[in-house]
Amino acid sequence: MSPPVLVTPRLEIRPLQREDAAEVQHIRALPEVARYQWWEPADPPEVERLAVAQEGREPGARGTWFQFVMVLRSSGMLIGDIGLHSPADADAEVELGISLDPAHQGEGYAAEAMRAMLGFSFDVLRVHRVRCSTDPRNRACIRMLEALGMRREAHFRESLWFKGAWADDLVYAILEQEWRG
Ligand SMILES: CC(C)(COP(=O)(O)OP(=O)(O)OC[C@H]1O[C@@H](n2cnc3c(N)ncnc32)[C@H](O)[C@@H]1OP(=O)(O)O)[C@@H](O)C(=O)NCCC(=O)NCCS
Repeated sequence: MSPPVLVTPRLEIRPLQREDAAEVQHIRALPEVARYQWWEPADPPEVERLAVAQEGREPGARGTWFQFVMVLRSSGMLIGDIGLHSPADADAEVELGISLDPAHQGEGYAAEAMRAMLGFSFDVLRVHRVRCSTDPRNRACIRMLEALGMRREAHFRESLWFKGAWADDLVYAILEQEWRG
C-alpha cells in the first residue's frame, strides 16, 4: 500500500513529510495545543525525525504511530496533524489523536478530518474498533468525539502521571458497525 492521501471537501490529509517540520512544530509548541497532549512541545528536528522514521512504513503497522498532516485545499496551508496508533498487542484496533491550529478551531475542520480517518481505518485498514483517549478537562475534544458518534467507554481516575500531576483519562471508541450505522 502506498501512503494514503485522503481528500475531504475542505482538506487534504497526507503523510507527514520532513518539509512540514517547522509548521507542525509551530502548532505543537502553542501551550493551548500541548496542554492535554502526552507529548511535550516538539522542536523541528524532533518532528523531522518522526517524518524520517515513518518513510517506507505503512499506516496500521503493528506497534507504530503514523503521522498525517491536515492541509487546507483552498490555500495549501498546514493547519494541524493527526496521529494513527496501531497497538503492538491488537490488530483489530487503532487509536487516533489530533492537534489543530487554534486559528482554525471552531470551524469543523477537526471533525471533518477525523471522519476521513475513521473511514480510512474501517474501509482500508479493516479494523473493528477505533479509540481515542482524552483528558476530561479537554472540553473541545470531548465535543468533537461525541459529535463523531464515539461512545464514552471508560473514565479512569488519576490513572496517568501527566505533566507533574495525576490526571484522569477518558476513553472513547466506535465500532465498525456503529460507524456504518
Ligand atoms: C480537539 C480539537 C482538535 C477540536 O477542534 P475544534 O475546532 O473544536 O473541533 P471541530 O473541528 O469539530 O469544530 C467544531 C466546532 O466548529 C463549529 N463549526 C463551524 N463551522 C463548521 C462546519 N462547517 N462544520 C462543522 N462544524 C463547524 C461547530 O459548531 C463546532 O462548534 P462547538 O464546538 O462550539 O459546538 C482542538 O481543540 C485541538 O486541537 N486541541 C488541542 C489539541 C488536543 O487537545 N487534541 C485532543 C487530543 S486527542
